[in-house]
Amino acid sequence: MSFPNRRLRRLRKSQALRRLVAETRLSVDDLVAPLFVREGIDSPIPIPSLSGIQQHTRQSLVEEVKHLHSLGVPGVILFGIPKQKDPQGSEAWNPEGIVQLALQDCRDAIGQDMVLIADLCIDEYTDHGHCGVVGEDGSVDNDQTITIYGKIAQAQARAGADIVAPSGMMDGQVRAIRDALDADNFQEVAILAYSAKYASGLYGPFRDAVDVTIADGGDRKTYQQDWRNGREALAEIRADEEEGADMIMVKPATPYLDIITEARKITDLPIAAYHVSGEYAMIKAAASQNLIDGDTVALEQLTAIKRAGADFILTYLTKEIAESL
Ligand code: PBG
Repeated sequence: MSFPNRRLRRLRKSQALRRLVAETRLSVDDLVAPLFVREGIDSPIPIPSLSGIQQHTRQSLVEEVKHLHSLGVPGVILFGIPKQKDPQGSEAWNPEGIVQLALQDCRDAIGQDMVLIADLCIDEYTDHGHCGVVGEDGSVDNDQTITIYGKIAQAQARAGADIVAPSGMMDGQVRAIRDALDADNFQEVAILAYSAKYASGLYGPFRDAVDVTIADGGDRKTYQQDWRNGREALAEIRADEEEGADMIMVKPATPYLDIITEARKITDLPIAAYHVSGEYAMIKAAASQNLIDGDTVALEQLTAIKRAGADFILTYLTKEIAESL
């Protein structure tokens, strides 16, 4: 019998054929590793909710970056855990702050061979755990916060960041950061805007990783996006592009593939997707109970993110995927 669509089956016959006609290819070039560096520790500390991921010392961070480079990974994004937290998050722009020191260490060790991205936010640095400064009425003060973001961008640029990545979802943050960078002669430092960032339940393990608890059982729903909204994400992306973003991000990734696909239609900027801590932890937890094959699901999810339209992916899977590819 001859069906008109037999062709579809024919092209799945062998691995070689499938390889030839694959529409989407996942490569090590697509991956960015999120890395944590903690001030004041003597040896790396495993993060229980993110199996295989650690809080690094300055030294072990450099070793990890070199290892990732040897695997062909093009970039890393750094998160810092300071010893001291305060209401303003002042360690975030201290020239001797942990991320600034780590950026310099990595730059010294690796030169221009790897893209160094600095997450730009204050939640890891504030004692209340919000991404912005909290005003007298208890709400996050947008405009005061973006002035602080400008200072952080300058400190990170001075320490050697190629890219700063504001993740706080304050209005006007991209323009404030661009202006601050340009004013300090860092025209070449790029901005990767976390443009469409949802108030997701999938950030839990990350908050363990950076020792963040939001004060008074609070949440981020007044500044991060409501997951019921899709069009709003496109408005966020357009606004960030207008303000001067060089790349935009959708976060988390797998529950928001529709957003990635829609974003692809409205912007020519590179699109990043963040496969976040909860997405990673779910794969690891299910695999550890033999409910799924973790390696297969990892490849499947990352490939789907690319298929949806992302150009690159921030993922805790970077090292293991790079080792396997
Ligand atoms: C904020 C920030 C968060 C993540 C990256 N940057 C947490 C948050 O918004 O609460 C989460 C990343 C992840 O879950 O892997 N600085």
